[in-house]
Amino acid sequence: MLMNKQNIFLKYGVTSYMALQKITAKKIIEKKKSGEKIVTITSYDYSFAKIVDDCGIDLILVGDSLSMVVLGYKNTLSVTMDEMIHHTKAVARGVSNAMIVADMPFLSYKIDIKEAVKNAGRFIQEGGAEAVKVEGGTKICPTIKAIIDADIQVMGHIGLTPQAIYEFGGFLVQGKTVEAAKKLIMDAKNLEKTGVFSIVLESIPWQIAKLITKAVNVPTIGIGAGSYCDGQILVINDMLGLFTDFKPKFLKYFADIGSSVRNALGSYKNEVEKGLYPDKEHSYDFPQQDLDEINKWFESVEIEEESNKISE
Ligand code: KIV
Repeated sequence: MLMNKQNIFLKYGVTSYMALQKITAKKIIEKKKSGEKIVTITSYDYSFAKIVDDCGIDLILVGDSLSMVVLGYKNTLSVTMDEMIHHTKAVARGVSNAMIVADMPFLSYKIDIKEAVKNAGRFIQEGGAEAVKVEGGTKICPTIKAIIDADIQVMGHIGLTPQAIYEFGGFLVQGKTVEAAKKLIMDAKNLEKTGVFSIVLESIPWQIAKLITKAVNVPTIGIGAGSYCDGQILVINDMLGLFTDFKPKFLKYFADIGSSVRNALGSYKNEVEKGLYPDKEHSYDFPQQDLDEINKWFESVEIEEESNKISE
């Protein structure tokens, strides 16, 4: 039998041809080398992840922004490992191609290195992610090394790392002095040396992001870090206009889903109140030939008596 590509994959135990289309860390790194921009976005549930994947987005981050934009906490410090795993699983069910990275939540990787590796492993084993993201620079490199030694891919994250907002004094732009900029560049170099496959640069001046992007061979993924990064990421609920509690300077609304949802709910309320919905088109029919019989029965019996007989 002539073995086509799909049969070869099946022979070697790959149950789906699509499985081999999965974007890997290697592919993400290659994109930097070939000068192709890397497009990434967050997702937290099956329905959105499926749409994101259909659109050919390279990488989906199940961000700890979940804490704010989905769970309604005031910052990212509240979300737990179990909540993150729960949402990573939902995303994984909707994705065939995009690489899935799970964000390690506050305190899940900073207390103890062994616990960090164990928690990173949970995202792969239980959550279905292909990599994890951790916040921090040079200080966190020993932990990142241990996670990578366990064969888990790691994405770094420097600049405005929201898990440290109380240290920064709020959601403030980072790397604005020569000293701070030098530190960011050294942090990025050390993350690269430790083996991360990419680095998120959040809320830093674009000139510093440009220098970092030049200094490291792994891709930089910017959010509020200008256009010279190798790729971009946004929080999906932010860019669709679903989460509008605050708007950082870098955020662009690519849609106004919030208004669409409000309009739709207004119409729904109006139609239900006026008896316009559901109409015949959105209702199930009883078979016409039996309609007379059921109507006759309905008129002829005392429903109360009949139901008492049944319950006796
Ligand atoms: O949690 C998140 O969504 C993130 C991105 C903003 C990078 O960390």
